[in-house]
Amino acid sequence: EAGALWGGRFASGPSPELQRLSKSTQFDWVLADYDIRGSKAHATALAAAGYLTGEELTAMHEALEVLRADVASGAFVAAESDEDVHSALERGLVERAGGQLGGKLRAGRSRNDQIATLVRLYLLDHAAIIRGLLVQLIEVITAQAEAHPTAIMPGRTHLQHAQPVLLAHQLAAHAWPLVRDLERLREWSVRASRSPYGAGALAGSSLGLDPALVASELGLGLPCDNSIDATAARDVVAEFAFILAQVGIDLSRFSEEIILWATREFSFVRLHDSFSTGSSIMPQKKNPDIAELARGKSGRLIGNLTGLLATLKALPLAYNRDLQEDKEPVFDSVDTLEVLLPAFTGMVATLSFNTERMTDLAPQGFSLATDVAEWLVKQGVIFRDAHEISGELVRFCEENGLELPEPSDAQLAAVSPHLTSSVREVLTVSGSVNSRVGAGGTAAVRVAEQLRELARVTAEF
Ligand code: ARG
Repeated sequence: EAGALWGGRFASGPSPELQRLSKSTQFDWVLADYDIRGSKAHATALAAAGYLTGEELTAMHEALEVLRADVASGAFVAAESDEDVHSALERGLVERAGGQLGGKLRAGRSRNDQIATLVRLYLLDHAAIIRGLLVQLIEVITAQAEAHPTAIMPGRTHLQHAQPVLLAHQLAAHAWPLVRDLERLREWSVRASRSPYGAGALAGSSLGLDPALVASELGLGLPCDNSIDATAARDVVAEFAFILAQVGIDLSRFSEEIILWATREFSFVRLHDSFSTGSSIMPQKKNPDIAELARGKSGRLIGNLTGLLATLKALPLAYNRDLQEDKEPVFDSVDTLEVLLPAFTGMVATLSFNTERMTDLAPQGFSLATDVAEWLVKQGVIFRDAHEISGELVRFCEENGLELPEPSDAQLAAVSPHLTSSVREVLTVSGSVNSRVGAGGTAAVRVAEQLRELARVTAEF
């Protein structure tokens, strides 16, 4: 079998059916450049241990550079008979360096330690790209919050009016989970920066190669501590898929609000024409497709994680071919977010808010009832009673078709003698919002502080 990495002990070549099943070049080709970098580092380690002369090392590196350029230009591509990216590139190397030299490279390494290393390198690069995209999104959310420093909206629990909050506070509440995703990616990157190279198939190398040399050539930290674990573990991949799924969920929760806010009934936001879509039959339609696709794709990201975990469950140590199934889901998660995040950021950057409508609705649904109860507490009423009195005021208003600020002094007094006319001080949305000055609260001073903190932590990434 021309170019195959194994075959000596086989009397016949692989069947076409097996080849079709086994082949991974259609998805692992994205690792080609990392494979070549790994090969150059491995050659350096072979030379350091005396298995390649100085001239051989130079020739090997040159041939690998030619191969790298040919891969980049498309002059070298995987053949139908190549099992995976590693076999294809060894064929390419032998074609360029000759069998005498090219055939020496595989000493002391296995595709098992190679693949475990290359996936880390790929994911580390994409972690950096996704961090950059997340920073841009957080900056855009922060800018929208800063552009609306005083707008008040109905804050909700159970999707019901709960208490008035600043729009800026609500927007920032969607940014903090993304900051934690940035932290997760940063911490993951530290954990992922270990090098499986040198673990060989599973038991380590007998050739006296220096795995730390390979690791540092590849820009990774220390080699892995256990060669079996190095080749068998994929928690690094699963954790990455989790972080990407969590990003998807964070976008999806924001999307759900944007979709609601864009309805006729809410009318809180208008989407920019260039970040919304129309209908092929209904001429008036303007649809929040980006938000819907974000919500939909979060399902796909969760699916990728779940599929991967199912693949890993109960796999005995060390390498099993099942592990080849780690790549498509995590690569898909990477591709999905790298397309989704820029569109999502554009949508958020161009949202226009109907702050008048939000402010009008903010006091409705008796959303100031908590303020009444807390005002009573400040007057010395115990909270149980205060809650009761405020609740009775809500019932009175509901029965009489009034909003909370509307009853007369006499009506207030009839509900409870504690309800003097000074309660009106807290019966405005701005009074309510700005009274919530506790740490992390929705008062304008706290939110301004919060936005500065958000900008400060985001700048660290
Ligand atoms: N293509 C394999 C993977 O993606 C790596 C090769 C290991 N194959 C093997 N038969 N040991 O995991």
